[in-house]
Amino acid sequence: MNSSFAYRQQILGAHTKDGWRPLNEFLKVERPTYLYNSQSILERIAKMKSAFEICKPQIHYAVKANSHPGILKLMKENDLGVDVVSKGEAQIALDQGFSSHKIIFSGVAKSKDEIEFAIEKNIFQINVESLEELRRIANIAERLQKKVAVGIRINPNIPVDTHPYITTGFRENKFGISEAQLSEVIEIVKTHSQFIQLQGLSSHIGSQIRDITPLTEALECLIKSSQMLIQQGFKLTTIDMGGGLGIDYFAEDELKEIQLIEVLGTKVAHLLKETPLQLLLEPGRWLVARSGALCAQVEYVKFNGYKNFIILNTGMNHLLRPALYKAHHRMAPLTQRKENPQKIYDIVGPICESSDVLGQDRWLYPPHEGDWLAILEAGAYGMSMSSAYNHHPFPLEVLI
Ligand code: LLP
Repeated sequence: MNSSFAYRQQILGAHTKDGWRPLNEFLKVERPTYLYNSQSILERIAKMKSAFEICKPQIHYAVKANSHPGILKLMKENDLGVDVVSKGEAQIALDQGFSSHKIIFSGVAKSKDEIEFAIEKNIFQINVESLEELRRIANIAERLQKKVAVGIRINPNIPVDTHPYITTGFRENKFGISEAQLSEVIEIVKTHSQFIQLQGLSSHIGSQIRDITPLTEALECLIKSSQMLIQQGFKLTTIDMGGGLGIDYFAEDELKEIQLIEVLGTKVAHLLKETPLQLLLEPGRWLVARSGALCAQVEYVKFNGYKNFIILNTGMNHLLRPALYKAHHRMAPLTQRKENPQKIYDIVGPICESSDVLGQDRWLYPPHEGDWLAILEAGAYGMSMSSAYNHHPFPLEVLI
């Protein structure tokens, strides 16, 4: 468990080493802080439910996007399940009171220990990523003398227009099995039918996808293969579309995102209307990205004889997305300073790497040392991807 965990907090304050501290006192601390807005998350949950109303999906929030306990609590209170990719994430969900029947266990490298854990806890569905994993699960289930419900993750070989590091449904990627390998799945499941229950098919073709066509194509592929399996006598009950729906990191306005999910909901309802299968969704980013801002302070305003830099007390150690994917995050200075004209700055962090840039060539009014700046849309894959690199303290987290 990383050291930031001790600082995680609930409403308008924080549990610190020294006990409970109210929010205002807490922000006086010169330490980068992730601020999350629970209202925004509640609205997104409601919008997603409404967009998919006809399909009545089981929504399993992807814990990897943000595992803050208060956020998980919101998900649970709104009747969502979770999608986890490790025993650690599963344990966090169980600790927050999620029933094991609300947990999907995904992940490409499940260890024997993780599989045993998932089987013993009666996890709702293990999403299997390879024939090798399926055999491993069958052997462990047999040893434990328990029957386990699995979903098979299909890699439909559909390219998506997103950063290459976060496409997962293309044949070059390590995830899932090809449709052609389903015949081998059938053999394995038949051989181990006492211990393996083939519950459904799943796919997750990537993240930050802003065009719904590849998502519906992947669903069509799942439907076709599910029908083939049903015809062969398998009693499938679920169909799992994964997550992947993106947001517009350049825009303050969420309207287009809402419209997009509504169109997706309608198309999915149409595609599924002939099937008896329960739709599963695994959204992460779409639910929480907009709820979070990373607030940090200016250490230096530097001119190096060539370029202007705003050097913050946070960087790629706390928000890796810009360095890793050249991702864009909007910035909002929390102190308005208009005494001098705007200049172009690179907003950088304290880490000893030139990739430690949070924003490039941004027009901003010259800030003062100590001013706070918010890096927006940082609620997903921010804190959860933070690291101890260079051993600066982890950011605090506050859920308002
Ligand atoms: N289900 C599975 C099996 C996944 O691997 C993921 C994300 C999700 C669901 C949720 O996807 P979402 O709805 O959040 O797109 N670090 C990257 C994103 C990596 C996503 C990994 N898998 C980023 O910061 O953009």
